[in-house]
Formats: sequence, C-alpha cells, structure tokens
Amino acid sequence: MSQNPTLSGVTPEGTAVKERFDRCVIPVYGRFDMVLTRSEGSYVLDDRNRRYLDVGAGVAVCALGHCHPAIAEAISRQVRQLIHVSNLYYHDLQGRFAEELVDLIGPGKCFFCSSGVEANEALFKLARKVGSESGRFEVITCQNSFHGRTLAGISATGQQKVKTGFEPLVPGFRHVPFDSLKAAEEAISPATIAVMIEGIQGEGGINVASPEFLLGLRSLCDERGLLLLFDGVQCGHFRTGRFQSYQRILEGYAAGEGFLPDAISMAKSLGGGFPLGAIWVNERYADVLGPGTHGATFGGTPLASAVGLAVLAEIEASSLEQNARDVGDCLRVSLMRLQEQYPAVIKEVRGLGLMLGVEFAESFSKLLTKERPISLQVVEAVQREGMLTIPAGQRVIRFLPPLNLKREEAEEAIVILQRTIEKLIAWNIS
Ligand SMILES: Cc1ncc(COP(=O)(O)O)c(C=O)c1O
Repeated sequence: MSQNPTLSGVTPEGTAVKERFDRCVIPVYGRFDMVLTRSEGSYVLDDRNRRYLDVGAGVAVCALGHCHPAIAEAISRQVRQLIHVSNLYYHDLQGRFAEELVDLIGPGKCFFCSSGVEANEALFKLARKVGSESGRFEVITCQNSFHGRTLAGISATGQQKVKTGFEPLVPGFRHVPFDSLKAAEEAISPATIAVMIEGIQGEGGINVASPEFLLGLRSLCDERGLLLLFDGVQCGHFRTGRFQSYQRILEGYAAGEGFLPDAISMAKSLGGGFPLGAIWVNERYADVLGPGTHGATFGGTPLASAVGLAVLAEIEASSLEQNARDVGDCLRVSLMRLQEQYPAVIKEVRGLGLMLGVEFAESFSKLLTKERPISLQVVEAVQREGMLTIPAGQRVIRFLPPLNLKREEAEEAIVILQRTIEKLIAWNIS
C-alpha cells in the first residue's frame, strides 16, 4: 500500500522506521504509508502528531480502545505477582476466566491459546477427534469465510487468494455458499463431522447469517450427528451487542431459545490488545480433548487470564454490551442516511452492533484508479481525513470500533466519511 502516491508520507524518523521494516521484516503485510506512535481511547497518533479516530480498533481487537487503564492496571499488577507458569500446574486465574466464559455461553469447558487461528485449530482437532472412531474428518465451511493463516486455517478459509501457492492443503474442508442451508445439506458426505461458520463474516465483507440459517444448521447437525462450530473470533465478545453473534441474531426467535453451538472459537477482543485466544466446548464434547491431545505453551497464563478477566470486568462495569448496541444502532442509522444521500456511492450498509460494513457501488469505481480495490482506496482517502477503517474484499470498508465508542465519536466518524465522499466526488468533477 506504500505505493499510494497521494499520501503525504512520514517524518525522517518515520522514514527510518519504514526502511528498517524493508530491510528486516518479512513483507507478508501490505502496510499503509503511516507510522503510528501513540494512542489514547478511540484515537491513535502518527509520527507527525496527526490524530486519527480509529474505528478499526486493530481489526476488532482493542475492545476497550487504546491503552485503557483497566488493562494497564491488570497487566502491571499481574506482572509483579505471577506472569507465567506452564500448564503443568494449576493457578487461580485461568479457571476463573474459563468460568466467566462458561457463564456467558452455557455449560461446557474452555481451552486457552494466544490467537484466533490457534483457537480454530483446536476446533478442527476437536472435530477430528470426535469423528475418529467413525472415520469422519470433513468440515464444511463457507465461501468467503476467513479462519486464519495456518495450513488448516487457509484450508478451512473459503477464499482462494489465501490458498494459492500453499498447496497441497490440509484435506477435509469443503466450502458452501454462506447462508444457504440447502447447500450445506447437499455438501454433507459420509466423511463429514462438522459445519463451521462465522455468525457474521468479517473478512468476507460483513455478511450476517440469517436466523433461519442458524436454526436450520442446528437441526441439520443434530439430525446428521455433526458438530456445529462457530468462529467467533471477529464477531464475538459483545461486538454485536451480545456476547456471541448468534445470541443477537436469534433475539426474538422463540426457536432460538437455548440455542447453543457445539464449540466456539474466540480471540481478538478477548484480550483487548493482549494476545489471547480461547475455545468453549459444550458439555457433551468438553472432555474429548483429554490429557496429551492438545496444548499451547502460552495458553491461559496468569498474565493473559488476568487481562481477559479485566476486559470482561470493564465491559460489565461500563455496560459496554448495551453501548455496542446503542452506539452501533446510531452509527448504522447514520450510515444508512449517507447511503440515501449518496445512492451512487454507497450500495449497502450491513452488520449488527459495532460490526458494520459499507459496500461501495460499482459505479463509484469511476472516481478511483482501476488497478486497486475500491475498498483500499476509500480506506486511504478516509485516512487522509483523519480516520482509520478496515478494508474487506473489493468494495467494503469495515467499522469495528472499540466497544466503548462514544456517540460523539460515532458522529465524528460519519462527518469524516461524508467529507471523504464529497472530496472524492469533487475531484472527479473538477
Ligand atoms: C473470523 C476470523 N477467524 C480467525 C481469524 C484469525 O485470527 P488470528 O489472526 O488471531 O490468528 C480471524 C482474523 O482476522 C478472523 O477474522
């Protein structure tokens, strides 16, 4: 992304930072032409002291915003007491953290790791272990899904771009269209053991599963003896206004009462910026992964667990579940107003709570260069106006702000987006 000629660049110190990256860091990421130095709350600052409203929050990671005192205090307290012990021993905090997650989801048990893809690996291993006696190993996932970057992660991910060059892939994954119960049913083979979905596809462009799909999948999995796995890495942790996305999607559906997946993966917001991943497994399968079958050196350390507990405590103390719903609704309504105002620019606004996507119209591409995705170009144009958003696919930009985003900050986001759109239109006319 540094090829964008329209960004005004960085300071000499920033240039040195970039040059060091060029020399020493493997270039797996396309990076924007921006060196970030400090942060506070919903804002980050770059090396020129330019301030940006960060509505990407590290791709749905900084649940409490940047440098929240609750996280800073939990870390500084715990590092003086007990940072790490191996999982050969018990300690108080991992069990307490697991207990809180169980209370939020339902009867079951948790396993801890450090990232989303590790959490998904644990789900795949769980599914394979359950299926091992009957010779079943296949997991059905969705087109446009994203499940992480390990070999199993890219094999599970329903996007060709992450797989190319890394074949042969891990066998046993099939992709079906998202939100199509019929397609999922038709894809079941004698080798199938599980279906895995994101309640809201994040990288795929903010696609929300319908209640019928979720309820239908639950019945289908029950009838066919399959596990229903949820990847809640991006859409979980209160982002939708409920702890897990399915809880929000199924609100008001009598048939959804008591709905539980068989297992859920979590990460991102779980640690509010501290690397933390987890799975919850319902009680039926909670002891399938027994001693020696799985593990993670850094899983559920005292420090990680203390941070996870602090994030949960702050979410509860400041009613951030409700805030995600209320401020999310305001943001959504305002984005839809922008869509009405600029129908040739914005095609659709999608999402729930503070997980929102804005899809730009194909015709809008006339305002931009042909070579690069509209999503990237809009994200860069928005950056120039002082806000960080996240691209998804060709035409979507994502809003995944901190759960404590203030109403005024949501309003500021709309003002910035509108200003960006106006400028892009004006440039095209002039
Ligand atoms: C839905 C989903 N699953 C898994 C992952 C992988 O998480 P991580 O990058 O922490 O391994 C991501 C990351 O974006 C994600 O959005």
